[in-house]
Amino acid sequence: MAIEKTFLMIKPDGVKRQVIGDIVNRFERRGFELKGAKLMVASREVAEAHYAEHADKPFFGELVDFITSGPVFAMVWEGESAISLARTMMGATKPADSQPGTIRGDFATTISENIIHGSDSAESAEREIGLWFGGELA
Ligand code: PPS
Repeated sequence: MAIEKTFLMIKPDGVKRQVIGDIVNRFERRGFELKGAKLMVASREVAEAHYAEHADKPFFGELVDFITSGPVFAMVWEGESAISLARTMMGATKPADSQPGTIRGDFATTISENIIHGSDSAESAEREIGLWFGGELA
């Protein structure tokens, strides 16, 4: 068990559906601390770097198009086991596997427009926080 920082991003579909408040509230109630947040439209450069590990996948272009299609709400949260607990709260990527009560299980029905992204490891969290926030965090 350790205090961790994780990168979470409400995707353009979540911003459009006005569920930022609901999602922020879930992490606050769980006991995590919000360390940084911003509403922004990602450049293709940042989106492609963010999803670089999927560059060879057939859906890569569509994924970058979607992430850059409107504002995202980028966040850094801190807390005990924040990386894995946030992933549990998000729910599974595949809609058929995302349980009711999780963010995706409550709001998403597709694998592409699935409301939220969360770092999947300590290495990803460090890389993604650096990519999206650089030296901006206090
Ligand atoms: S994989 O192939 O198992 O590595 O991919 P997965 O971890 O399931 O998903 C990685 C991210 O890609 C998004 N995704 C898609 N976008 C568009 N179209 C299709 N078909 C698709 N499949 C997966 C998925 O939402 C994941 O986004 P993040 O932001 O990482 O959760």
